[in-house]
Amino acid sequence: MKSAQLAGSLQITGDMSVAEIIQLCPNARRIFDQHGLKGCGGEHGPAEPLSFFAAVHQADLNTLLNELNEEVKRPSGAKYVYHEALEDYIYRRFFKAGIAIVLSVGALWGAVNLLQIALGKSFLQLNLLPSIHAHAHAMIFGWVGLFVMGFAYQSFPRFKNTTLWRPDLANRSFYMMLAGIVAFMAAELLLPHPVALSFAAFASLVELAAVLIFLTVLYQTARKSLEPPNRYEKFIAGSFIWFLIQAVLNDVFFFAKATAITPKELIMRIALIDGPLRDIQTLGFAALIIAGVSQRFVPAVYGLGKPGRDRQNLIFWLMNASLLLDIACYVLFLKTHILFFAIGLEVAYILMPVWAILLARQLGVFRSPTQPDRTFKFIRAAYVWLIFATAMMPFFVIYGALTHQVFAHSYLGAQRHAFTVGFISMMILGVSSRVVPILAGVDAKKLASLWGVFLLFNFGSAARVTLQILTDFIPRAAYPLIGFTGFIEVLALAWWGIELWHTMNQAKTQRPKVLGAPFPIATS
Ligand code: HEM
Repeated sequence: MKSAQLAGSLQITGDMSVAEIIQLCPNARRIFDQHGLKGCGGEHGPAEPLSFFAAVHQADLNTLLNELNEEVKRPSGAKYVYHEALEDYIYRRFFKAGIAIVLSVGALWGAVNLLQIALGKSFLQLNLLPSIHAHAHAMIFGWVGLFVMGFAYQSFPRFKNTTLWRPDLANRSFYMMLAGIVAFMAAELLLPHPVALSFAAFASLVELAAVLIFLTVLYQTARKSLEPPNRYEKFIAGSFIWFLIQAVLNDVFFFAKATAITPKELIMRIALIDGPLRDIQTLGFAALIIAGVSQRFVPAVYGLGKPGRDRQNLIFWLMNASLLLDIACYVLFLKTHILFFAIGLEVAYILMPVWAILLARQLGVFRSPTQPDRTFKFIRAAYVWLIFATAMMPFFVIYGALTHQVFAHSYLGAQRHAFTVGFISMMILGVSSRVVPILAGVDAKKLASLWGVFLLFNFGSAARVTLQILTDFIPRAAYPLIGFTGFIEVLALAWWGIELWHTMNQAKTQRPKVLGAPFPIATS
């Protein structure tokens, strides 16, 4: 009787949180589900305001308010009972595995490699190569790959207002990917022992199968959707094509190394394949998915408004064309030494900061957010790092000439680190710290500011990039210092990872507040 009276006098407003509305009117969940909520925020729904939900799910706030108020006045059907399904929490295992990997065989392993480089006072220690390649594999497949897969399985069906096709298969792809990562790392370390080939063959098969399952599940999910295709989706499609290509090239790279007969042949093969492979992984797979998700997510979530001029298509073609030109000219120049291809490579490098600046402007990351949040500093910093890292590329050849090097290894290594840590990983930290509290139904305003993580991560990354370049000029001073920078980054990642893990666990443990708890109710 009392709740009927309450419902009669209640007016839902845009500043009420989704959790408050669901607590008051459980059937409202049906309406939220139609707009893509489906399990976000767990049993009680996210602590975000209704106006935020409408902006992120591209729903009209007034229509939503009318639907909700109608439901409150005249409840339709039986009481909604929430059941958590695999597709609602599948992201948690991907994110947790990603954290576990980055803090063990990923960044921590990389930090140990860097310490060995510092102790040996050289970035060119051939005996460290298997270990560095194992680290790179863990980072690309286990860190970037698992976060992308977990995020995609969770968010893309909601972006497309549908449900995940075959969550059981999606789940299988998780275990296959994990098995592949472990086996591949073992194969890298066991080379040149013949057993390495068996590990690599197994790893290649399961990783490739995991990627194909991932792509199939998302393709079928998109097919189920009635929503018209969105323009940002071509970035995501492009990224997935590069994801598949890099998985194949990664295996080719391994078998090319394993079958090299002389050390000279080994070095030539590494020189030929390593560059294109890493560029496909970072500038193709990672950068395109970040660009696509950013366009769907960043302006809406942080309230950055629309770009003055929409350049989505131009950015997309510049990103792909510069990468293709880069790969083609790199390979052809290495094979022929014809100057024309070196010029083509330089053109590709010049195009990279162009698309990076256009992308940052398109998103408006340098405007003031109307929805400020503790994670916005990560997003903005990531784009500063992106512009910085891509702006380093056109100077690669000039730098080599000035320092009398045929191949400026330290400069390129520093550039890669600026891209993989400053841009890619900074985005993973920022986006996950924004999304996970929403998915877990935790009020982000009550969580830590993450300033400590932010400062440490930026400091560690900036110190690494600067010191790696300085090893060309003042090696005696730069090498001992650079050995510490990896551990600073690992510390920042551990700080962030523990918080995120804890927030994910709250999704399982949170219990409802007592009904009738005070919250703003505007009476009509
Ligand atoms: C966070 C701390 C990290 C540390 C301490 C670290 C350490 C290292 C070191 C010492 C190298 C060899 C550098 C060189 O020879 O110039 C390297 C290479 C590499 N790292 Fe990292 N790294 C970290 C993060 C990452 C991340 C986040 C990614 C990917 C997203 C990544 C991917 C790679 C790749 C692709 C290479 C190149 C391997 C090759 O030469 O083929 N690293 N890393």
